[in-house]
Amino acid sequence: MQSIKSYIDDNKDRFLSELIDLLKIPSISADSAYKGDVLKTADAVKLSLEKAGCDHVEICETEGYPIVYGEKIIDKKLPTILVYGHYDVQPPDPLDLWNSPPFDPIIQKTELHPEGAIFARGACDDKGQMYMHVKAMEYMTTNNELPCNVKFMIEGEEEVGSVNLSTFVKNNHEKLKNDVILISDTGMIAPDVPSITTGLRGLSYVEVEVTGPNRDLHSGLYGGAVANPINVLTKMIASLHDENNHITIPGFYDKVEDLSDAERAEMAKAPFSLDAYKKSLDIDAVYGEAGYSTNERNSIRPTLDVNGIWGGYTGEGAKTVIASKAYAKISMRLVPHQEWEEITELFKTHFENIAPKGVTVKVTPHHGGQGYVTPIDSLGYKAASKAYEQTFGKTPIPQRSGGSIPIVSLFEEELNSKTILMGFGLDSDAIHSPNEHFGVWNYLKGIETIPHFYKYFTELSK
Ligand code: BES
Ligand code: MN
Ligand code: MN
Repeated sequence: MQSIKSYIDDNKDRFLSELIDLLKIPSISADSAYKGDVLKTADAVKLSLEKAGCDHVEICETEGYPIVYGEKIIDKKLPTILVYGHYDVQPPDPLDLWNSPPFDPIIQKTELHPEGAIFARGACDDKGQMYMHVKAMEYMTTNNELPCNVKFMIEGEEEVGSVNLSTFVKNNHEKLKNDVILISDTGMIAPDVPSITTGLRGLSYVEVEVTGPNRDLHSGLYGGAVANPINVLTKMIASLHDENNHITIPGFYDKVEDLSDAERAEMAKAPFSLDAYKKSLDIDAVYGEAGYSTNERNSIRPTLDVNGIWGGYTGEGAKTVIASKAYAKISMRLVPHQEWEEITELFKTHFENIAPKGVTVKVTPHHGGQGYVTPIDSLGYKAASKAYEQTFGKTPIPQRSGGSIPIVSLFEEELNSKTILMGFGLDSDAIHSPNEHFGVWNYLKGIETIPHFYKYFTELSK
């Protein structure tokens, strides 16, 4: 029987080349032109789970992209870990900002990744992190080290809102029954500062359309005499924050939980350099809600951000025109207890109310989801903490993240179990951005840490 460390030493080239093969398939769930590739990726994931020693693997069809389900049940009396991940990726654009093609992975050294990092769309989010679990499983089955039952549920629609996974989870309580859910789809503070994600923000995503006159107009003949939808839209958007950067939608903060001073003091202990943060983003100052630190602003506080805005003439040169319509896509990150559907309604009502005469406003909700927070005294958290102690030589720091994995709160509601978020990415890995990458060291460290979680979780469950 081989230790996980020496197993990784012997197999790391193959672990890398297999991941690179997976990264070559452009599984972009948002773009229907890639349908064939998304389906091909599901098949590749299925095959990898079979090879890793699952006894039963199936492709579960949904109304959208399939869910790959795999399991190995060694003894019904032992605990069951449910691993969740996603095989779909974000669109890679803008393509011209990539230093190498997004679906032609290369390994390159960076300042933060002296051992090299794999550059490709999905390297960190989430193919690389999901595949760590497949390789950890391979180790445990080939070395007779699997201490409990395991189920895998790898979906292909996370980046577009997990709508069909919700239905699947609601309809498959028995199949998905588990004692803990394990996910690697988040990050950690730094390679020498391991952390476990204890919170995720919720999300409400809307699109707005402001319509003025029935057609585009000459901005000289009509300018000043009719509402310009772009002027109006930008003014309406600007009014959504006050001078302290508080969001002005009535009722928006009603359910926001206020953290105690003790909890905030605990959070402030996490190592963080404002200077390094500013430097990494090339900004001379941070910006945000008055009264909160940067780490609070991006985790325990809700936000409202325009993600895109368009309308009018944006081509070369100048065209004098007042557009008939203006549009924006707006996301609100929510914190635990804020109900995303309620927030969407509050936004809609408010946005319609603040529209001046002379324009009409249409608000179209996109997807959303609830935030999540997990306690640090659960069996799962304790097992994860011990696993990191083994492989990093340090106790991990609990940290709430600003990102969202909306399905996690549904897991708790429907399956009644806690989720443990063991993320191995870094914030600087550029997920969703050009030049996304995942450290080779992080990838292998994840593979090394996961089997320890299995062992400690099984032991602590006795
Ligand atoms: N893996 C991310 C979420 C994430 C990343 C959480 C890093 C914490 C740290 C996930 O794939 C994602 O991108 N989620 C979306 C929401 C989804 C509904 C499209 C997000 O957060 O924007
Ligand atoms: Mn993800
Ligand atoms: Mn993502």
